[in-house]
Amino acid sequence: MDWGLKNRLARIIKPQDRRGVMLAVDHGYFLGPTEKLEEPRKTIAPLLSLADSLMLTRGVLRTSVDANFPVPVVLRVSGGASIIGKDLSNEKITTSVKEAIRLNVSALAMSIFVGAPHEHESLVSLGNLVNEGEEYGIPVLAVTAVGKELEKRDARYLGLACRIASEFGAHLVKTYYCENFEKVVNSCPVPVIIAGGPKLATELDALKLTHDAIEAGAAGVDMGRNIWQSDYPVAMIKAVRAIVHQNATVKEAQEIFNKLKDVKKAVKAASSA
Ligand code: R5P
Repeated sequence: MDWGLKNRLARIIKPQDRRGVMLAVDHGYFLGPTEKLEEPRKTIAPLLSLADSLMLTRGVLRTSVDANFPVPVVLRVSGGASIIGKDLSNEKITTSVKEAIRLNVSALAMSIFVGAPHEHESLVSLGNLVNEGEEYGIPVLAVTAVGKELEKRDARYLGLACRIASEFGAHLVKTYYCENFEKVVNSCPVPVIIAGGPKLATELDALKLTHDAIEAGAAGVDMGRNIWQSDYPVAMIKAVRAIVHQNATVKEAQEIFNKLKDVKKAVKAASSA
């Protein structure tokens, strides 16, 4: 692997433990003003120093993230469909590699839609993006998107999609956690990280999901809603970090969450007294 590419990847997946906590805030590119991400700057600011990297679009990066803060950026470069449109798989590359270099990003990210109407275009785009990324030493994160069909999240489908992404040269793959997740990880020769998906009923559920994924071999998370849709996002990202980087158990992570939540509650109560 070329030095530059290896160095950029090391900003995302930390070489010390080969894991990473990526904070996903790119949802607006097809969901618009997602709940609790309506004002991206407000959502991102308290979490910035707690994320190993930040996944987002150029629009939110330029408008809502302080350029003086040295957080590694994973730039979403695909898009072109919306949640109210006909087909979420109808994406193309929308941001150039030249723009990504201008923004000093650590990786490029795009979705692939295996088994969907625009499967072919998304896979060819992935191959082309890897070609360009390799030319400039920028790694590519492939997102195995399922569109509205959340039931696609099983080991057979996700294993297929992740493996295909790696065969096209993706340096890192993001997918969903599922039963028998070790099969997905073991058949994908590049690091696999998990999205959290829609917010789960409780923070404990999200911590369990994170723990199960790490135990099954995931290299970390690219998590959004289960962090910043929590009423206690800072406590949540710290608890997730403990699982990813310190091998914390679910119980230990929950204790971290509860402790920080209680402190936050106490501060709030004191300031409104
Ligand atoms: C979806 O394709 C977006 O790229 C999100 O970044 C991804 O789903 C991760 O966020 P969440 O944990 O909220 O699912």
